[in-house]
Amino acid sequence: MAPTTSSAPQSQVSCGPAHHSAHPGPEGVDPDNFHRIYAGEQARVGGDSGGQARAGSGDLGARPAPAWTSAKVPAPWAIGRPQRAIAELAARDFFEGPVLDIGCGTGENAILLAHRGLEVVGVDLVPKAVEMAKANAARAVASGAAAGDASMRMAPEFRVGSALDLPACTGGRTFRTLLDCAVLHVFSDADRERYRESVTAVAEPGARIVVLVFSEHETRAGGPRRMSVRDIERTLGPRWSLVRVQPARYEHISHDGGARSWLAVLRHRVG
Ligand SMILES: C[S@@+](CC[C@H](N)C(=O)[O-])C[C@H]1O[C@@H](n2cnc3c(N)ncnc32)[C@H](O)[C@@H]1O
Repeated sequence: MAPTTSSAPQSQVSCGPAHHSAHPGPEGVDPDNFHRIYAGEQARVGGDSGGQARAGSGDLGARPAPAWTSAKVPAPWAIGRPQRAIAELAARDFFEGPVLDIGCGTGENAILLAHRGLEVVGVDLVPKAVEMAKANAARAVASGAAAGDASMRMAPEFRVGSALDLPACTGGRTFRTLLDCAVLHVFSDADRERYRESVTAVAEPGARIVVLVFSEHETRAGGPRRMSVRDIERTLGPRWSLVRVQPARYEHISHDGGARSWLAVLRHRVG
C-alpha cells in the first residue's frame, strides 16, 4: 500500500519562493532543486514560510559542534553545525561505525561523528555539496590539529551518489549505522520503495538506521513532505523494525525553533 502523508496541504508540488503555504506532495521534491539550491539559485524547498530573514541561525540553540567553521551555504538546512538531535544521540555513544550518512549535505553531522572516532562515509546527490563537505572536513582537521585535538583520527570520506542506489557509490561496503538526516522526506512514494531496497543493500545484518524527518505536526508552510511514524514504518518495513521514536526538531532556518520532526531508530531484521 502506498504510504500516506499528513493532513497538511499537498496541493503544491513545485518548490520555490513563488509558492506559498504548501510543501511537496506524493511526487516528492524535484532533485534539480537541490542542485539549484547549492548553486545559490534557489533557497527553499516547499512553499514560502516567510522565515528566510532569520538566516543567521545562531539562535537555534547551544552549539554542540566541535570548533570548526563551515562554509556558508544558501540552503535553509545549512546551519553551519551538526543537528542538535544527532549531536545528542552521538553524545550518548549511540552510533556504531562504520556509519553511512545518507544525503550528508555539507557534512557537519558526518564530521561530528568522525570526531568521535567513528569511520564515516557521507554520500550526497549534489557534487557541490560533496565538495563543500570535503572542504569542511579539511577545515575541521586543520582546526583540530591547530588546537592539539587529535580526536578525528580519520576524516569522513565524502562521495557523490544517490540514496536510491547506495551500492553504486559505496563500493560494496556495508554499514553498522545508517543516518538519514532530513532526506527520506524528499522522496516520492515510488522512490521510497527504491530507498528501502537501497539502504537495505548496504546495511550490515542487525544494523540500525536513524531517521530524522519533518513530521505531520509541522503545519507551518514550506519544507519537504511531512511523514507520520506509520509512513516511516511503511517505507522501511518489513525489512526494518521500529526500535524507538521521539518528537524532535530539525533545525532549519525557515522554521522558527526548528521544524517539528520525528527522530526514529529502526533495526535491520536479520533473515
Ligand atoms: C535537507 S538536506 C539535509 C542535509 C544534511 N543531511 C543535514 O541535515 O544537514 C537534504 C540533502 O539530501 C540531498 N539529497 C537529495 N536527494 C538525494 C538523493 N537522491 N541521494 C542523495 N542525496 C540526496 C540533498 O542534496 C541535500 O544535501
